[in-house]
Amino acid sequence: MNISIIGSGYVGLVTGVCLAEIGHKVICADNDQEKIKKLKSGKVPIYEPGLETLLARNMKRRKILFTTSIKEATQKSTVIFIAVGTPSKPNGEADLTYVENVAREIALNIDSYKLIIEKSTVPAETGKRIERTIRLNLPRKYQRKNKVIELDVASNPEFLREGSAIEDFMHPDRVVMGVESKRAEKLLREIYKPLHTHLVVTDINSAEIIKHASNSFLATKISFINSIAQICDRVGADVLKVAEGMGLDKRIGRSFLNVGIGYGGSCFPKDVDAFIRLSEKNGYHFSLLKEVRNVNEEQKASFIRMIEDKLWIIKNKMIGILGLAFKPNTDDMRNAPAIDIIHTLRHEGAVIKAYDPQAMVNAEKILKGVTFCKDPYTLAKGCDCLLVLTEWEEFKKINFQKLRHLMRQTIIFDGRNLFHGDHLEQLGFEYYGIGRGMSKNNR
Ligand SMILES: NC(=O)c1ccc[n+]([C@@H]2O[C@H](COP(=O)([O-])OP(=O)(O)OC[C@H]3O[C@@H](n4cnc5c(N)ncnc54)[C@H](O)[C@@H]3O)[C@@H](O)[C@H]2O)c1
Repeated sequence: MNISIIGSGYVGLVTGVCLAEIGHKVICADNDQEKIKKLKSGKVPIYEPGLETLLARNMKRRKILFTTSIKEATQKSTVIFIAVGTPSKPNGEADLTYVENVAREIALNIDSYKLIIEKSTVPAETGKRIERTIRLNLPRKYQRKNKVIELDVASNPEFLREGSAIEDFMHPDRVVMGVESKRAEKLLREIYKPLHTHLVVTDINSAEIIKHASNSFLATKISFINSIAQICDRVGADVLKVAEGMGLDKRIGRSFLNVGIGYGGSCFPKDVDAFIRLSEKNGYHFSLLKEVRNVNEEQKASFIRMIEDKLWIIKNKMIGILGLAFKPNTDDMRNAPAIDIIHTLRHEGAVIKAYDPQAMVNAEKILKGVTFCKDPYTLAKGCDCLLVLTEWEEFKKINFQKLRHLMRQTIIFDGRNLFHGDHLEQLGFEYYGIGRGMSKNNR
């Protein structure tokens, strides 16, 4: 099938490359000229494991092309996915400016039947607004009664996780299709047929809600276990054991019970905010989700309080940050908890050094006054403590014997419970994890 994807970022590019891999002819469009130039030369502008290899294979097979022209993308395809960003407005609402712009541009260039699919995460009722925008902006000739142009709008939310995006796209738990015509359903079924996966077919509003509800639920699970961690610290229990004991119950499941410094990234914070706003606008006070958000903020604040307590004076202390990205296997810094933590500590006068295997190029653009280091050992040199803010596998291979001799004070605050505290303590470190019963033991 001839498919276009408008917006070639984390989601659009992975979607385009994977749809090409399963046999479709794909055009990826973006209005970022630099991005398209890079992609045309076979370079992937983001870090996503396996993506560059898959892109090379499908460029060679001539299954995927890149353009900055929405006209070309619209006219050469029957199906058009919209995968542009939907960031937060200051009041938390999803900013749908990019979606509206794309809808208008599609309308201006439409020349035959099109199925327009929302891939971006959008609030309920966006599908209706996209359709209305397209109909209002159709060229004059199509606005006459006798020259009607047929089109469908559908919702097909994306559930991939950065860092394992290809695997998630190719082997999804389910594919959700919000459709309101047989033709749209038939086309969507055909697109995903090669994946042999479970399809959930529903109306557009329900599909839109499924995405927001899923992300909000996962965020709730994280805030729940983070609250449990707070209790564990106070009573001297170990949250890792608690999560194991809870997670083995099939009704609960172990995933998303990882304690840490709170969720971040380009999805959970904005999607929780947008869902709260959507509820408010429709007369429902979603107090549960508001508390999920509060707990998430408190998680960062309590981590900082622990550092202030154990380090005593922050001013002029040299603090080494191990990990900047909001999670491992990505270079994405959007809403990474590291940003708030670093800003607070810098504000209190700390000298900050940082190392991340992939995210430093993006981090440099937003974190001023931070010294970026080439490896964990350069980072550790002269530090009064290290903070683990992303659980990169690579960090497990650090030689702590060597590291110990480079630091001024051997203190580790492990915001992701990545390390075994006992082991590090045997090596002479003071170790603080999250929810490991520490505050009780140290009172
Ligand atoms: N990143 C994720 O893990 C993830 C997962 C599931 C869903 N989503 C959702 O998918 C959507 C896209 O997210 P993303 O992370 O890929 O964003 P992104 O910022 O990486 O990519 C968006 C792209 O759209 C392009 N764009 C904006 N306006 C355009 C226009 N008028 N014409 C052409 N291109 C335009 C931008 O240049 C950018 O390259 C969001 O709604 C997000 O919530 C993201």
